[in-house]
Amino acid sequence: MSEPLLLVERREAVGLIRLNRPRVLNALNTTLVRELADVMEEMDRDDEIRVIVLTGNEKAFAAGADIQEMAETTPVQFVVKQFFADWERIRRIAKPIIASVSGYALGGGNELAMCCDMIVASETARFGQPEINLGVIPGAGGTQRLTKAVGKMKAMELILTGRMMSAQEAFELGLVNRVVPQDKLEEETMALAGEIASKPPIAVRLGKQAVLKALDLTLEHGLHFEQNAFFMLFSSEDQREGMKAFVEKRKPEFKGK
Ligand code: HXC
Repeated sequence: MSEPLLLVERREAVGLIRLNRPRVLNALNTTLVRELADVMEEMDRDDEIRVIVLTGNEKAFAAGADIQEMAETTPVQFVVKQFFADWERIRRIAKPIIASVSGYALGGGNELAMCCDMIVASETARFGQPEINLGVIPGAGGTQRLTKAVGKMKAMELILTGRMMSAQEAFELGLVNRVVPQDKLEEETMALAGEIASKPPIAVRLGKQAVLKALDLTLEHGLHFEQNAFFMLFSSEDQREGMKAFVEKRKPEFKGK
């Protein structure tokens, strides 16, 4: 039997997914991305899971799309296979996803990390969009998400030179949330995941959606979305509980209702 492409476990309210093609630095082939979307959708439906963590191994989060698989693909095959359909499914996951990155996050690997909602990086992490060196450009959102994350000038440089940047540089540019020592990566990621998992899940979900809208909409439309989400939360039990607990000076107990 061949090794599973993903190792999946649950740790309390956190669903942990580990990319598992270590021999090719977790290169993302189409089967892996499909299975990843399947597992994430399952976790999205599972009421016991509140936060998803996506990680790789010490050497690589993912060194990009699988170049071997991609090299001979024709444009028509990309269209017929709907090459990016599973990436779209990942984009639509409602629960927060934290990428926990050690080693290489390159090309599609960096794009996958950027599809997540937060990135915790080890000091050894290396981020980049090296597609230019292969005669192409990023295809899974890299030109768009990197530009929104770090601004036009830096994104232009990174995409046109293909150079890798350190975790520290990525942190300074606002691409990653935290840089931690390699041996603390899992602990720090799980601490962040646990903190978010303790918050009221419906508000977390709408908070994620609203922040993503900011990347997409005009201020006018974004504010409209935010206000409606804000109003909607006043129909949740968690809003009653959160505000009551504050007034009663006790810890709230959120139920996701
Ligand atoms: C297929 C890959 C791979 C990839 C590494 N490997 N990256 N296989 N696709 N993206 C394989 C190597 O062929 C090698 O297999 C094994 O993993 C170990 O890699 P090495 O190169 O020997 O390791 P090292 O010398 O440490 O160099 C690490 C590296 C280098 C700098 C990360 O592997 C590299 O440059 N990889 C390609 C990075 C890249 O260009 N990514 C963008 C891909 S395009 P063997 O069998 O020889 O041991 C892309 C487009 C996205 O992502 C579009 C949408 C999805």
